Order: sequence, then C-alpha cells, then structure tokens
Amino acid sequence: MINDKLPKIWYGGDYNPEQWDSEVWSEDERMFKLAGIDVATINVFSWALIQPDEVTYDFSALDETMDRLYKSGVYVCLATSTGAHPAWMAKKYPDVTRVDVQGRKRTFGGRHNSCPNSPTYLKYSAKLAGKLAERYKDHPGLLIWHVSNEYGGYCYCDNCAKAFRVWLKERYGTLDNLNRAWNTRFWGHTFYDWDEVVVPNELSEEWNGNRTNFQGISIDYRRFQSYSLLEAYKLEYEELKKHTPDIPVTTNLMGFYPELDYFEWAKYMDVVSWDNYPSLDTPVSRTAMAHDLMRGLKSGQPFMLMEQTPSQQNWQAYNSLKRPGVMRLWSYQAVARGADTVMFFQLRRSIGACEKYHGAVIEHVGHEHTRVFRECAELGRELAGLSDKLLDARTEAKVAIVYDWENRWATDLTSGPSVALNYEHEAYKYYDALFKLHIETDMISVEEDLSKYDIVIAPVMYMVKPGFAQKIEQFVSAGGTFVTTFFSGIVNENDLVTVGGYPGELRPVLGIWAEEIDALFPDQKNQMVMKAPWGKLQGQFECGLLCDLIHSEGAEVLAEYGSDFYKGMPVLTVNKFGKGHAYYVASSPEASFMEGFLSNLCEEQGVKPLMAAPEGVEVARRVKNGVSYLFLLNHNADPATVEINSEKTDILTGKKVSGSLTVPAKGVSILEGAL
Ligand code: GLA
Ligand code: ZN
Repeated sequence: MINDKLPKIWYGGDYNPEQWDSEVWSEDERMFKLAGIDVATINVFSWALIQPDEVTYDFSALDETMDRLYKSGVYVCLATSTGAHPAWMAKKYPDVTRVDVQGRKRTFGGRHNSCPNSPTYLKYSAKLAGKLAERYKDHPGLLIWHVSNEYGGYCYCDNCAKAFRVWLKERYGTLDNLNRAWNTRFWGHTFYDWDEVVVPNELSEEWNGNRTNFQGISIDYRRFQSYSLLEAYKLEYEELKKHTPDIPVTTNLMGFYPELDYFEWAKYMDVVSWDNYPSLDTPVSRTAMAHDLMRGLKSGQPFMLMEQTPSQQNWQAYNSLKRPGVMRLWSYQAVARGADTVMFFQLRRSIGACEKYHGAVIEHVGHEHTRVFRECAELGRELAGLSDKLLDARTEAKVAIVYDWENRWATDLTSGPSVALNYEHEAYKYYDALFKLHIETDMISVEEDLSKYDIVIAPVMYMVKPGFAQKIEQFVSAGGTFVTTFFSGIVNENDLVTVGGYPGELRPVLGIWAEEIDALFPDQKNQMVMKAPWGKLQGQFECGLLCDLIHSEGAEVLAEYGSDFYKGMPVLTVNKFGKGHAYYVASSPEASFMEGFLSNLCEEQGVKPLMAAPEGVEVARRVKNGVSYLFLLNHNADPATVEINSEKTDILTGKKVSGSLTVPAKGVSILEGAL
C-alpha cells in the first residue's frame, strides 16, 4: 500500500508555483486548506529551471516549495521533471530531439519530446533523478516519485535505428530468423546485413499511422519503442531507488493509450497511476473499463487517479464543463474501481500558453467563491471523513476480459479484412454488456493467472502468443468458460499465419474450423438466428463487421447465419472441452445479443450480478477484511431507487440503510456491510 505515510485517500494534484509570483503562494496554501488538499504533484516541468546549463543545478526554488508545502500540511508527489528537456540541451546536443514518423528532425519545442535512445537524454535524465533523490530523500513531505510525465510518442532517428538493430539481434539471434519472422521473401526484402534494416516510418514501410507493408517490422518497432521508453524510465527508477528504496515510484499512464504496452510497464512501477479525461459524451462504462484496465495492470492492486480536471479540459474539440456533482461522481467512480487517490490537473489555472483554459481548483478569478472550488472543497471534506477505510480494498471479479497491446498493434496494422475492425471497441462491447448487467469484470493481460476466474473472454484474439492456447485449454478443462470471437487464432507473435486452418492453435478447444472471413460494409448486416431458445436468447439478432464462415468440428451450433450465401452456417458455437465450455462468436453482434449471451454464461457459471439497479446506475464493489463496500453511482439526471436486501451503512452519510434507497441525481452511496 502506498498511503502509509498519509493514510487516507490522497487529495490534490498538479501544482506549478514556479509559474507564479511568490505573493500568490500564501493564497494557494490558504485555499488548499479550505479544499482539504493534502498532496501536490510538483516539479513536473521544471528541468529548465533546475538545470540552467550543463553543469549548474539550482534546487533553491524547489527546496522552498517542498518546505513551504510541508509546513502547511501538504505532502508532495515529486516529479523528476524529465517530461520536457531544456532548450539549451536541444541546442547543444541535437541528439535529444526526435525524428518523427515522416523522417523530419524535430527542433526544440513541445514536451514529451526526447529521444529515448539519445545518450544525452539518458545521461542527464538519470542524473537529475539521482540528484533529486539524494537531495530530498529525508524530506518528511516526500510521499511518492512521479517519473517524467505521460511517456509516449515514437522516435525514428539514427540512434533509435542503431538501438533497434541491437534489440533485433537480441530477439532473433540470426538474420535468418529475422528474415523468417518478417517473411521478407515477400516483395524481395531479404536482409543480408543487420545494417540494411531501417526503421519502419513513412520513408520506408508505413503510412497513415496504421498502414504498413510489413507487419513484422512494424509490430517489432512498436515493441522496441515501448521498450526504449521503458528503459529510459527504468534508469530514473534505479537512481531514485538508490537513495530512497522505500519511497514508491510511479509514472502517469493514459488508459488505453495505444503506443506503450502498459502491462509490460506496470512490472516496473510500484503503483500504477493514470490520467482520466473523459469528455461529456464518453459513456460511463468506457471510463469504467479504463479504470478496470489500470487496476488490472498490476493484477488488481489499487491505483492512483493522478489527474482529472475539476471542470473542463482545453485540448478537446468541445471542452464542456463538468456538470454540478459530476466531478464528485466521477471521482468516486475511480475510487469504486480501485483508486486510492483523487488528484487533479491542476490546482491553480495557469495564465499563459495552451493550458490556460484548462480547469483548475483555483480559477483565474483567484478566490474560493466559485462553483468549482466549492465542489472541490466539499469532496475534500468528504474524503477526509473516509479516512483509511477504503484504502487497499480489492475487487473480487469472477469474469475477466483479456486485453493485449501487441494484439492491438497487430489488429490495427493488419491490412485487411476490414478497416472498421477496432480491437478496443470489440473488447468494449463485451465490457459494456457486463457493466450493464452489474457483473464485476477484471481487465487482464495474457500472462494473468486464470484460475481465479470462472469466465474468460478474449475478443478478437487475433495474435496467439506461445503458451496462450495451452493456458486456455487448461482453464477450460478445469471447468472454465472461455469466449472468443471472429478473427481469432490467426497469427503467431510475429504476425505469421498459423497454417492448417483458422483459428489456429485455438481450434481444438473451440471445436471449429473457420474457412473464410467475410468483411461487411458498414450498412451491411447479417443475422444470428438461434437454433433453439437458450436462456435469455431466442429469435434472431443482427451482426456485422466480420463474418467468419465456420464449420463445427465437434462444437454444438447455437445459432446460424440468417442470410447471404453462408446462410445456415454456424455463427455461435459452444464446445465442451474437459469440464468446461469454449464459445465462438463468429461475427460482431448487436448489443441486445451481448447482454443475453453474457447473462446466460454468468447464470451457467453461477456468477451473480452485484445487485439489480436501474439503467444509468453504476454498481461496483471493493472488499477489505471481509467487509464489502458497495458503490452505487447514479449517472442519471434524476434520482434512482434501488432495493437493499440487508441492512448496510452508507459511509458517506453514516446512516443505516435497508429496503428502498433513493440515490440522488449524480449522487453516490457507498454501502458498508458484511461480505
Ligand atoms: C495531461 C498532462 C498534464 C496536462 C493535462 C491536461 O494529462 O499530464 O500535464 O497537460 O494532460 O489535460
Ligand atoms: Zn531516436
């Protein structure tokens, strides 16, 4: 648990006193107190201030901020500042700036702009982290380290090309292996020397962000860039740990951010933290899924909500205000799904550059008499009242959805069968149905231990990595229910097709053979016609996107296609395998099918919804020491009533509740009771 030193839900956020004159600081402190703010994330973009040139380091301002905050009761989440390099560094050592996917050498500018293979960047970022750790190791205000900021973006410079070749040698050993893995006899690409391999950018193999001639090299480049950035992070991590082995280290992630394999990253993070920026029209289940993914990165360990806006963003097309009550509601949504902190970007709204219209606890008017400040202060009081009650409480899901970044890269880059295929969206369809059924769901990696689950769903498991099929076979044999969909089991980890019939290695457990894959135009549909009523499913449902033309090889056929030349071929099958069952959904079904299907599976496995609740009421649960905390989050614009079957205590009001409970519009109840 990270919250030992400050045993409550940490409340605060990004704070940039360096952008202000010192007269403002005492006002900040006064208002932090009023708002119940006890953690400030500082030093996120101060590299240029701390290190004005190659040899000078000046920590005086940071010393002052650390002391000042601590004296006023505010702890610190201390960033290492390496999310943006100083201008002098870019001028003196051009290797720190990146080359973009179009092959253009970047100049100084922006942020998150350093090449992860730049010797200068690696040297000076690690050095800075080390100096910070050495200096503040005994500071009583230091709670946690925040390395860099929102790592992301790729570089295509010569240093990256060199490092890529080293990485490839390590991975493949010989050029023969590499040529085979990338299938380079296609279009005469055989390599005879490692130096012939160039980075896959718009000058070589790629275009339009997700189009490539060679999936092998493009997927490997994504692996390599994710690895390179992680290596840069790890250098800082090691430096911090040298001086402060007991202070946790994190870096702020971004949910489903496509470019980094967060499951790999999480192995080197003491705690996961992430920045949550839904827009007014983001479905709440979509945000819930992102929280669950962040919780899943470390197998269910609580995470930090590192950033959210108290009111609005600046970078979206339409930056709506969070409606009254919504900031609180979404904060508790994070807590309900595993967050042990509620933090904002930013505490005081800046006056210049591109984030001056980004929401903040303290707005440009500068005083506390604003709607946003009042809402922040109310939440601050409430979180203080919860004390350590919810800290480190866990979720006990019996259903899991497998999510794999490498599979995502592969499906994005695949070139056929359909541009409309979106891996994340297909996973979301399953998640959303479970969310609406109030079934707790974990988002897990392909490496996760499956034995704690009754149902494992792997939508569009296109890339099957070594050992995965065996793992699924074991899971199903032992009584588990496995679900996968169209376009699964097609390729290995190098994006080479597993020949002998789709779905490749998953064929035995599924008991089917997919002979062809049809891609449907957006307005083209087929139907899934149930052969017989099954639980909540009967009649027919629409499906589309892709239609696998499958044959049963022992699986029972539950539904058939309703039209086209493959009318009558199976579209939904179940195969008995050992003590369990493996389902294949051969097309992308409409929402009403999904809910019926998943509720049938849960019924079969005895997985119960957390409770019955009206539409728009989110239900989630955390458990600690045999006590259950049931969160009811009413996202509706009207009050909603739920039935509570055994007496519980609402820990936000202290009141006992049983029978009918009305949760106000945008309101929250957290019900404590026996498990
Ligand atoms: C990100 C960054 C912050 C800030 C916010 C604005 O999450 O980490 O520095 O730019 O976005 O929404
Ligand atoms: Zn580079």
